[in-house]
Amino acid sequence: GRVAVLLGGPGSEREVSLDSGRGVLDALRARGIDAQPVDGVPALAEAIVAGRFDRVFNILHGGDGENGVLQGLLQAFGVPCTGSGVLGSALTMDKIRTKQVWASAGLPTPRFERLPRGADLRAAAAALGYPVFVKPACEGSSVGVFRVLNEAALAPAIEFAAAYDGELLMEQMVRGDELTVGILGDVALPSIRIVPAGEWYDYHAKYVADDTQYLCPGLTGDAEAEIAALALAAFRAAGCHGWGRVDVMRDVERGFQLIEINTAPGMTSHSLVPKAAAQLGIDYADLCWRVLEATLP
Ligand code: DAL
Ligand code: MG
Repeated sequence: GRVAVLLGGPGSEREVSLDSGRGVLDALRARGIDAQPVDGVPALAEAIVAGRFDRVFNILHGGDGENGVLQGLLQAFGVPCTGSGVLGSALTMDKIRTKQVWASAGLPTPRFERLPRGADLRAAAAALGYPVFVKPACEGSSVGVFRVLNEAALAPAIEFAAAYDGELLMEQMVRGDELTVGILGDVALPSIRIVPAGEWYDYHAKYVADDTQYLCPGLTGDAEAEIAALALAAFRAAGCHGWGRVDVMRDVERGFQLIEINTAPGMTSHSLVPKAAAQLGIDYADLCWRVLEATLP
C-alpha cells in the first residue's frame, strides 16, 4: 500500500518534524515501501479524500498532528495511522489535563498551578515554592519553557505569559535525574538518562548541542523495572497506544515524577526513542517498520 509520511506543519516544532520525517521516509523507502511525504494536515486531508494513501505514518510534532485532530480525521475515513488515537493524542497534548488524570489515577507528578490568561505568576510561584518551570500547556520540544529560580528571574516568564494565547502551567521543579522511556507496542524500551551539558534539557540541548550525554539503560536493577512499569501505567492511564515516549524525573526525595507524554516523539538523529530501541538491537529502519507494522490489521 501507499504510505503518507505526515511531517512539517505550521507549528513551532516544524523544523524538528521535517528532520524526523526525512529520517522516517528514507527508512521506509529503504524497506521497499511506497512512502511519500505530505506537509501538514490540510494537505493530507486532500490526499485522503482523493484516496491517494492507505495508511499514515504520523511524525508531525505538535499542533493538529499530535492533538487528536489528525487522528479524528483519519478515523472518520477509516485510514490507519501510527500512534495513539483521538483520546490519547488530545489528552497528552495538554500537560495540565494529563497531570490531572495521572493524579487521579494515583500516579506521581510534580505539583503545579494552572495559569489562566492574566494569572498572577508571582502568587502561583509563591504557592509552589521556587524553583519552578513555566510552560505552555500544549507545546513541545521545550518551546516557551522558562525555568525560574527566584522572584527576580520571573520577568521574562511574565512577559511571555502576557503575549501567549494558549494556557500555561507552572510546575514545581524536580531536582534529580532526567529520564525518558520509549514505548513500542506493549513494551517499555530501556530508559535513557539525559545529562545536558547546560543547566537543563532545553531546545538547544535537544537538537543542536553535541555535548548532551545519553546513558542507556539509564538505571539498573529494581529502579529500571520500576520506571518501566510506571511509564507503561502512565501511558495507559492517558489512553495512549502504539508508540510514544514518557518523560520522567527522579526526585532525590520523592522518587519518580511523571512529566509528560509525547505521542509523536522525535525521530531525528539526536532523538531518544531510536537510541533506546538501538539498545535492544532494533536499528532505526527496523524501528520505523515496527511502528508502521502496528497499524496493519
Ligand atoms: N516533541 C518532541 C519532538 C519530542 O518529544 O521528541
Ligand atoms: Mg513534549
